[in-house]
Amino acid sequence: YMPAPSRATSSGDDFIRCLSPDVPSQLVLTPGSPSFEPVLVSSIRNARFVAPATARPPLCIVTPTNASHVQAAVRCGRAHGVRLRVRSGGHDTEGISSRSERPEVFAMVDLANLHNVHVNPQEATAWVDSGATLGELYYAVAKAAPGLGFPAGVCPTVGVGGHLSGGGQGLMMRKYGLAADNIVDATIVDADGNLLPDKKAMGDDLFWAIRGGGGGSFGIVLSFKVRLTPVPPTVTFFSITRSMNQGAVEAVTKWQAVAPVLPDDLTVRVNVQQREANFQSLYLGNCSAVVATLHERLPELGVTPADCREMSWLQYVAYIYFGDAINTMPLDVLLLNRNLTLGRFYKNKSDYVMKALTKDEWEKIFTWPNGGALEGQLVLEPHGGRMGSIADADTPFPHRDGVLYNIQYVESWNGNSSTPSWVNTLYDFMEPLVSKNPRAAYANYRDLDIGVNKVVGGVSSYESGKVWGERYFRGNFKRLALIKGKVDAGDYFRNEQSVPPLHL
Ligand code: FDA
Repeated sequence: YMPAPSRATSSGDDFIRCLSPDVPSQLVLTPGSPSFEPVLVSSIRNARFVAPATARPPLCIVTPTNASHVQAAVRCGRAHGVRLRVRSGGHDTEGISSRSERPEVFAMVDLANLHNVHVNPQEATAWVDSGATLGELYYAVAKAAPGLGFPAGVCPTVGVGGHLSGGGQGLMMRKYGLAADNIVDATIVDADGNLLPDKKAMGDDLFWAIRGGGGGSFGIVLSFKVRLTPVPPTVTFFSITRSMNQGAVEAVTKWQAVAPVLPDDLTVRVNVQQREANFQSLYLGNCSAVVATLHERLPELGVTPADCREMSWLQYVAYIYFGDAINTMPLDVLLLNRNLTLGRFYKNKSDYVMKALTKDEWEKIFTWPNGGALEGQLVLEPHGGRMGSIADADTPFPHRDGVLYNIQYVESWNGNSSTPSWVNTLYDFMEPLVSKNPRAAYANYRDLDIGVNKVVGGVSSYESGKVWGERYFRGNFKRLALIKGKVDAGDYFRNEQSVPPLHL
């Protein structure tokens, strides 16, 4: 990977000079410095975003070790016309935490050094810095407070900053809601470079917006205080794969009606890939109960005690990611996170399903031509339970009552020469079968194909934002835009899909 030739501009030089009294120079990496490239790619997960055709790297990377460095980056950025992209875990599915699609001079603030987790077992809460990963959060919680856990995503390398800002779906959401539903306080640096130390200082509106309204629009969140949730000493995992000959299509068709209404401490998600369906469980309890429940409710799976693996919740979060390999590794591998190797190119899209698809429709999906994709995968995450009982306007995330499940489409391929095909043709086919008016999408599975902002008169226009924004946030989009109009009227924090400012 080659950074573009010097992108330094006079505004860039002024920005870097402006930082120097407040930010030690070793924390500001310019393209000439040996650590620039390793740090830039350290948490990028998708080869698409380091390929020369799509990369538009930052003029420098600021790697704060405390809040004042973040404040300086905002103040200097404002003063010298340099925008910021903020990165926590780097998992953005369009890579916009580290690159800009538009020719824009920007610096990246990489929060990886800010990754403390402070657990309060008595209160069942934790303060977690944005730069921590989910693995670090899970590990710290389970070590400090066995019996407590946190409902968030499945992949331990995902960053807290982006994930909680955009919602955070995981295998305990049917019991406890999204990660964002469990945020009880936060600290943020606003568009003027002020440090707002708690929700009182930020006010109800801004505190509402950062709990699901998507990262990168409202300020730089430094930390979240989260409510921890009870987990039993034993949880149960199973993984059952069915081919089409073994009734995969029938099982998925039936699953759609059953999974959202199972007891809320049982989640069964599905991966559909290579004409097979793989069903995976998280049950907050032991094997015998899950076998009995599914024997009655989803006999198509044929779950037996031999399919079960009982373990602690911490072992579970490691197991679901590392698989059997975890048996020979210490659990603190959950803490290793920034030495990722880049492999494939990925494209993600998402849908919400409100009405079960028919068996025939599933048969078409299972056999969809993969058109050059190395792999096309659908991940089906059931809703229902607690997810259905939270009002749409309680948080910016509106996909609540009536949603049966979320679909994540993932196409992967090798090499920069091909472009996604499986995902686009299947996504077109799915249109009449999924949520409508508008067709919804999940903000954390960012997809720039559904719309990008146009900048009009120096700010992102509300009209252009509505196109993608109402798909992620439905009726909450307007409130998000009004809040943006109050807290960042000049649209300093902007990107291809940031919430545009709106004024009544
Ligand atoms: P990253 O650092 O790239 O940030 C994402 C966005 O948030 C960017 O716009 C960024 O600027 C902004 N941002 C980051 N930190 C910020 C901060 N401190 N303040 C303000 N804005 C900030 N989702 C899910 O719900 N459940 C799951 O199980 C998974 N699993 C999963 C696996 C893998 C391999 C990938 C690549 C992605 C997922 N996701 C997911 C999606 C994930 O939740 C989503 O990409 C998050 O935004 C990632 O957060 P990061 O901090 O890692 O990303």
